[in-house]
Amino acid sequence: MNLILLGPPGAGKGTQAKMLIDSYGIPQISTGDMLRAALKAQTPLGLEAKKFMDAGQLVPDSVVIGLVKERLAQPDCAKGFMLDGFPRTVPQAEELDKVLGGLSKKIDHVVSIEVPNSELLGRLTGRRTCRACGQGFHVMFDPPKVEGKCDKCGGELYQRDDDNEATVSNRLKVYEGQTMPLINFYKVKGLLRPIDGLGAISDIFGRIKVVLG
Ligand code: AP5
Ligand code: MG
Repeated sequence: MNLILLGPPGAGKGTQAKMLIDSYGIPQISTGDMLRAALKAQTPLGLEAKKFMDAGQLVPDSVVIGLVKERLAQPDCAKGFMLDGFPRTVPQAEELDKVLGGLSKKIDHVVSIEVPNSELLGRLTGRRTCRACGQGFHVMFDPPKVEGKCDKCGGELYQRDDDNEATVSNRLKVYEGQTMPLINFYKVKGLLRPIDGLGAISDIFGRIKVVLG
């Protein structure tokens, strides 16, 4: 099964992806995580991407398309994959179609997690992420058992540089301007699966499993 997880910053794409990995055994391909890993490794690509990420802007299409193309060719994507945070522009979506066509693959479902803007700022400013395994938490809505420590692996939890109020406000504007057109792009193709993203994390996971079958 080949999936796209679509939704605004803080909608719960990463949170649901981690649960989907366990249920469906397919890898999560998060362009945001890949860019942060490149930055951690201080590669030229990572250092260049940081400027865009810190400003809440999108990294140029050519950069992320190159990353995804390489990743989709890895053997663990043979039985399926889920794209988290990609595509984010119409040109990225068109390029993805070409890349998948070349691999004789196609997207089965675009899971669009819908959450109103009023909810997103609080989700993002309270988010904490494990440095070691990437598991996400929230100080109020999904707190770790021990403050500052990951429940899964014991790793240190940190706050993302782009999860401050000013950058979040830009990220939301960029989502509305550049990513929201994808909702119609995939609706027309009959692939859009809208999911109400409000409520308990486990309830939302249940809603996604219903549409994936
Ligand atoms: P990326 O890392 O993809 O960030 P994003 O899209 O802004 O999305 P987030 O990761 O912030 O949100 P999420 O939906 O994963 O939410 P989560 O599950 O963590 O991208 C970062 C940057 O990289 C971009 O701004 C851009 O610069 C660049 N980039 C990446 N991809 C790109 C691309 N394709 N093209 C160009 N540039 C690109 O949940 C958030 C919080 O809410 C957590 O604390 C969680 O515990 C909590 N939560 C989750 N569900 C619930 C719930 N139901 N109730 C209450 N709290 C909840
Ligand atoms: Mg995420």
